[in-house]
Amino acid sequence: MNTSPPDQCPSWARLAQYRERIRGTRLADWFSSDRGRATRLMTAIGGVQIDYSRQRVDDEVLRLLVQLADQRALPEWRAAMFEGQPINTTEQRAVEHTRLRAGDRAPADIRATLERMRSIAGRIRGDPRLRRIVHLGTGGSALGPQLLVDALGASGTDLEFRFAANVDPLDLERALAGADPESTLVVVASKTFTTRETLANAQAAKRWLSGRDVAKHFIAVTGNERAAREFGVTEILPLPDSIGGRYSLWSAVGLTALCALGADRFDALLAGAHAVDEHFSSAPAERNIPVLMGLLGVWNVNFLGSPTHAVLPYSNALRLLPAYLQQLEMESNGKCVDREGRTLAYATAPVLWGAEGTVGQHSFHQLLHQGTQPVPVDFVVAGVSAELDANAQAQAETLALGTTDDSWPPHRRHPGNRPSSTIRLERLDARHLGQLLALYEHKVFTQGILWNINSFDQWGVELGKAEARRILAKEA
Ligand code: F6P
Repeated sequence: MNTSPPDQCPSWARLAQYRERIRGTRLADWFSSDRGRATRLMTAIGGVQIDYSRQRVDDEVLRLLVQLADQRALPEWRAAMFEGQPINTTEQRAVEHTRLRAGDRAPADIRATLERMRSIAGRIRGDPRLRRIVHLGTGGSALGPQLLVDALGASGTDLEFRFAANVDPLDLERALAGADPESTLVVVASKTFTTRETLANAQAAKRWLSGRDVAKHFIAVTGNERAAREFGVTEILPLPDSIGGRYSLWSAVGLTALCALGADRFDALLAGAHAVDEHFSSAPAERNIPVLMGLLGVWNVNFLGSPTHAVLPYSNALRLLPAYLQQLEMESNGKCVDREGRTLAYATAPVLWGAEGTVGQHSFHQLLHQGTQPVPVDFVVAGVSAELDANAQAQAETLALGTTDDSWPPHRRHPGNRPSSTIRLERLDARHLGQLLALYEHKVFTQGILWNINSFDQWGVELGKAEARRILAKEA
C-alpha cells in the first residue's frame, strides 16, 4: 500500500505548476465562457446533490486531482477499510463503522447489538413511567446522537431528551433541571469508560438519584464492560474497538437517538449511510461525491493555501452540523506526522468552522465576502424553504462572482472568485441525513489517504488530559 509522501506523486507536482495558471483566472469568466459549467460540475446520489461549479477548478485540475487519488492508491486503501484490515496502524485496529449499517450483510455481533438496541428502545418508548432521557458522553460519544435528536426531533414519544458533555456541573444541572429522578433514565456513553468528564457527570447523576437503584436508572454503552459494572450498571451495550468515537453514531452510541427517532427512522438513517458506502466503494472517482469532496478540499488547502473551511447549513435543524464535523474532520485529519512517522512538509486538515444560515450572514459573512483570507465554503441546503434556498444561492453566487461595476467605491466592491460547493438534500429526513454524514466520513477518509496520515487515531488529545490530571493531583 502506498505510504510515500503525496508531494512525491507526479500529479502533485503538476497541480502545483498548474496552480499558477489558475491564479490568474476568474470564476466569473469561466461561467460566462462555458455555459455548461453549472450543470457539468454537479453530481448526485439518491436525493443528495453536490454542485461544485463554484470551486476554482477547471477540467484539467479535476483530471489531475483524480489522477492523484489513483497515485495515492485510494482504491486499494478503501478496499482495505471495507475488508476490515487493520488500517488504523498506530492502534492496530480495523475500521469498521461501515459494517454498522450494512444491514443483512453486517456481521452477526453487530446485528445482535442492533436487535438489542431496538428492543431496549421499544421498551423505553413504551414505558409510561419514563419522562426524560439524559445522555452523558462527550466527543464522539455525544455529538452524533445530539445532532440526530436536534435535527430530526423525537416522534411517537413524549420523552424529553437532554445531553450533558461538559465537566462544568452546570451542563448536567441544566440537563436535569425540572426532571424527577423517579422518571429519568441516564444513558452513559463512553467507549473507554475512563473519560473524566463523563464519569464525573455519571457520578453526579448517581448522587442526584439519591439512593435509587442505579441498575434501574442507568444504561451504559461502552467497550469497557467491567468498569460499567463496577459503576453499578447492568444493562450494557457493547462498543467494539474497531468503531472510532467520531464514527460511532451508527452504533449503540446512537441508542438515545434511536429512542427519539423510533426504529423506522433509525433504520432509514443506516440505510442512507449504507447507500453512500456503496457509492463510495464503486462509483468512478470523477462522479464519486466523497472522493470529489476530498479532492476539492486538498486543492483548496494544499494548492490554493486555504487554512480554514466553513460549513454553513441553511437549516436550523442542522445547526449542530459544524460542531459534529469539527470533531470528525479535525480529530481525524489534524495530524502533523505521516503513516511512517515523518514530519509533514504539507498542510493537512483545515480549521473547520461554521454556523447556520441565515444567522451567520449578519455576522461573519462580512469576512467571507471582503476579508483578506478566502474561505472555501460548503453550503448545505435541505429544501426547508424557498427563502433559505434563495439566501444560500445568493451567498454562493456573490462569493463566486463578486461585483463587476468599477464605478462603485472600493469599500463596496466584492472581489469574488471565492470557492464554494453547494450540497443539496432533497429533504431533511433520516435517510438524507444518513447520506450526508456518510459523505463527510468518506471525504475525511479520502483526504487521510491523500495526505498519507492515519485518520483513525487521536493521540493529540492525550497529553492535555494527562496534564490536567497532573495539575489536579498537585492541587489536591
Ligand atoms: O478525548 C477525545 C476522545 O477520546 C474522543 O476521541 C472520543 O470521542 C471522546 O474523547 C470520548 O471518549 P469516550 O467515548 O471513551 O468517553
